[in-house]
Order: sequence, then structure tokens, then C-alpha cells
Amino acid sequence: MLELVEKTMREIVASLDDARVCSLYEGVPSGKRLRAKLILKIASTHPDAVKLAAIVELIHAASLLHDDVIDDALTRRGVDSINARFGNKTAIMLGDILYSKGFFELCALPSSVAQTISNAVALLSLGELQDVELAQRFHHDKATYDQMIYNKTASLIEASAKAAAQLVGKPWEPFATYGRNLGLAFQIVDDILDITQDSQTLGKPALNDFAEGKTTLPYLYMYEALNTEDKAMLLSLFGVVLSPSQAAWIHEKMHTSGALSRSIAHAKRLGKEALDAIGETGVEGLDKVVIQMIEREF
Ligand code: FPP
Ligand code: MG
Repeated sequence: MLELVEKTMREIVASLDDARVCSLYEGVPSGKRLRAKLILKIASTHPDAVKLAAIVELIHAASLLHDDVIDDALTRRGVDSINARFGNKTAIMLGDILYSKGFFELCALPSSVAQTISNAVALLSLGELQDVELAQRFHHDKATYDQMIYNKTASLIEASAKAAAQLVGKPWEPFATYGRNLGLAFQIVDDILDITQDSQTLGKPALNDFAEGKTTLPYLYMYEALNTEDKAMLLSLFGVVLSPSQAAWIHEKMHTSGALSRSIAHAKRLGKEALDAIGETGVEGLDKVVIQMIEREF
């Protein structure tokens, strides 16, 4: 089924009838297709399930094209990003094309589905804006972080699960709760992997969030646990390209302060809330998605 989603995405892009756009699109790495997997599991029987999955993945791909421009990111999923290869202007316009072609197709789906997805796109744009503005200075406000990651990441995952349920006429609330908690856990796991994994495994620079000005959950927990002297040391490293000894200091304090284990426990708690929400729905495979997502290495 996932191959069908890939094929539908290519067909939607090809319907623009422009060889340059098709060739640029071939250079966009496909990723985990988490949102598509959820839609296919929840709405598997519906003839528009593949179409909805393709639309959401096109929108997600568009958001990452823009995000890599915003973050000045030179690699994505182990290969040079589109902005690194063809420049920011091309990456932005390719993002706009994927996004608007996705929206064109979305208009043909039931209005409840279209509203769920389009509302989430507004939220994820808001989340990206919040992420950019938060990165201007160090903060240790967990509620602000929670709200930003809900908007930036969880909103589209929540909307994918909700829209899939709406498509097949199932009560959507448990699926939305599942998607929201899965999405929050997904972003926290991402934030943890930035610290625990190497660049090769991640397919993007490791230990990069804090250098980019992103005060993620492990850093919030670490700051809370440090003494005054270490707090000052951590603040001095905010937004800095780290030397090997500074990177080693962060790694050590992440472990000894309990920040990493606390973050992992929080992600697992959210994963459990996701599982609890869909307990009664009888949709197979959604539990495996949560477990794989928590246990992933990149
Ligand atoms: C990745 O965050 C970014 C997102 C999940 C959302 C980006 C959203 C937008 C740019 C706005 C919406 C735009 C369109 C065209 C729909 P990250 O930088 O923390 O993760 P990363 O390490 O994978 O880059
Ligand atoms: Mg980014």
C-alpha cells in the first residue's frame, strides 16, 4: 500500500506536466511515511485512503523543504538537502508546488477531512514560527515548548489519524487523541536522538538542536537539574557550534543530571496515552507504530 502512496504522490506532481519539477521531486528523500501509515491503517478500506495519505505526505514534504531553508540545513535523511543542492529559492518554490498540488487534491475529499487537514497546516506553520522565535534566546518554559511541538509536529499527525477516521465514518476522537500523543512523543524522541545518536545514523548533524538555538525537552530538564555554575556553563553554549570538549560536557551532563532518562520516560508516557486511547477501536497495527516510533534510532 505504501508503494501506492509513493506512486500517487508522483502522479499528483506529474499532473503539473513539468519535467523540471518532476526531476526536482525525485531528489526529495521519502522518509518514514509515518502519517501515511496511520491513514492506511485507520482508513484501509476506503477508496480515497491512498489519496489522503499521498496528500498529507506531500504537505509534510513541503513543510520540510521550507524547514530546511529556515534552519539553513544542508542535509536531510542522509543526503544533501534540496536547498543545499539547488538553493533556497528553488527549495521554497518546490515546497509551494507540493503544498498547493496537495491542497488542490484535498479539495476533492469530504469537507470534514479537508478542514481537519487544512486546520493542521495552519497550526504547523504557527508552530514553525514559534520555533523560530523561541530560538532567538534560551528559555526554560516547558509549557511553551509543549505548545510549540504540538503545533509544529503533533498537529499534522493528530489530523492524519482524525481525518482517516472521518473518511471512513468512525468516531474520530480516540484516533485524534492517539495521533496527538504519538506526535508529541515523536518530536520528543527526535529531540532525544539529536543528543544520543551520531550524524551518520541521524542523516543530519548530531547535537545540532542547541547550536541552532532550539531548547528542547532534554535541555529544559537538564537546566532544571544543574547547579548555578553548570547552568551558566550551559547558557554559554547556547547557539554555539560546539568543540569536542563542550560536546562531551553536554553528553555527560545529559546523563548525570537525569535529563535524558526523564525525557525518555516522558516520551514513553505519551506513547502509553496514545495506546490507551485506541484500546477499544479494534484497528490493528496502531500499537506497533507507537512502539517502533519510541524505539527508533533515527
Ligand atoms: C521540522 O522541525 C519541521 C516541521 C515538522 C514543520 C515545518 C513547518 C513549516 C515550515 C510550515 C508549513 C509549511 C508548508 C509549506 C506546509 P525540526 O527543524 O525540529 O526537525 P528537523 O531536525 O527534522 O529539521
Ligand atoms: Mg529543521
